[in-house]
Amino acid sequence: MSKKYYIETLGCAMNVRDSEHMIAELSLKEGYEAAESLEEADLILINTCSVREKPVHKLFSEIGQFSKRKKAGAKIGVCGCTASHLGEEIIKRAPSVDFVLGARNVSKITEVLHRPKAVEVDIDYDESSYAFGEFRTSLYKAFINISIGCDKQCSFCIVPHTRGEEISIPAELILQEAQKAARTGAKEIFLLGQNVNNYGRRFSGEHPKMDFTDLLKAVSEIEEVERIRFTSPHPLHMDDAFLEEFAKNPKICKSMHMPLQSGSTRILKAMKRGYSKEWFLDRAFRLREMVPDVSISTDIIVGFPGERDEDFEDTMDVIEQVRFEQIFSFKYSPRPMTPAREYEGQVPDEVGSKRLKRVQERHNEMLDEMKEERLGRLYEVYFEELKPGGMVAGRTGNNWLVHARGSEELLGRTARVKIVETSRLGSVGEIVA
Ligand code: 5AD
Ligand code: SF4
Repeated sequence: MSKKYYIETLGCAMNVRDSEHMIAELSLKEGYEAAESLEEADLILINTCSVREKPVHKLFSEIGQFSKRKKAGAKIGVCGCTASHLGEEIIKRAPSVDFVLGARNVSKITEVLHRPKAVEVDIDYDESSYAFGEFRTSLYKAFINISIGCDKQCSFCIVPHTRGEEISIPAELILQEAQKAARTGAKEIFLLGQNVNNYGRRFSGEHPKMDFTDLLKAVSEIEEVERIRFTSPHPLHMDDAFLEEFAKNPKICKSMHMPLQSGSTRILKAMKRGYSKEWFLDRAFRLREMVPDVSISTDIIVGFPGERDEDFEDTMDVIEQVRFEQIFSFKYSPRPMTPAREYEGQVPDEVGSKRLKRVQERHNEMLDEMKEERLGRLYEVYFEELKPGGMVAGRTGNNWLVHARGSEELLGRTARVKIVETSRLGSVGEIVA
């Protein structure tokens, strides 16, 4: 009987892809298959996030629960960003953990598995040219990493300490992977990196010059690829050439993530983001001008050290002006090894909570207005998932979730849909042709 894995993935899309890579290695080299439940698994992996403090706290109680539920002899591995950050401390605090594998050491999964109490967390390890085995969670969508690590030093962010310095993956590897994926049914390619539009600044070996705009063009030239998405771009690197390619290339989905973090130029400076409120607005307006129906999503941190009422009002002002489709909003969480942790003017928790509530309430109101505007309109929807009750689900180019009546033959295909019902979470449509 083959061995079984159970994996829990927290955090961002990068972690989702790292989990896919680990599954691919485990099945290719060790014959592992997915377990139906944790109790059945021979190997339990927790792929962690460390961007905020709360999930890190939860990790240890979760390890405790998992070790009670697991079958005798099953191994527990802690992977990802908290693994990179805490390293062997994890095994000291939770002796039931068998190994610790950092976010930048994913390719060593089948090795650490056989080394009792192994800790592999070197953030200088270069796996930018490693050819992982193949595994896709979705048959119809392929996540492809285009870089590892992050060179930005945002003063709040732990990621440079968990994923190391930024190295671009050679374009040949990305293009090969995209081609293979699209030929085997994943017509949508999702390019991933901590800072995608910084692509090409550093490769680990000799590599012809290529930036993110060139890479987008090259991926779109693969005939079988129908849709291209990417995350996350950095507002600072949104130059005109990039925005123009985004606007005019019909294969690039018209949804853009623009992580604002704060609308106050003063706070942006303290965050070391490299742009001002005006630059951000200029880029968002330019984008809207070129692609009127674009969906813009964002990340916002409230309660950053030194954030005064007037700084927060600047954030609210950008929210008002840009009308984001989606806002991922967070209360600032002090992280180890980050400069902001030592800044003066830490904001009281209640103030942070109040500001967070205001962002979320205002955004919900705006979403209600936006959803009205969608009713009756036609969109191209790429269907990816079968839903109960004879329904299928997919997304419009600008990333709205749409459900429609239909069956398996719609999966992996794009259909024209008229929106007949909307809510904050998604829409219902009718296929029109
Ligand atoms: N506190 C709160 N939110 C944070 N993020 C990153 N670091 C922190 C932190 N210390 C948020 C940012 C980032 C998203 C992935 O998480 O908004 O874009
Ligand atoms: Fe979390 Fe950031 Fe690591 Fe992704 S890169 S898992 S968001 S800490």
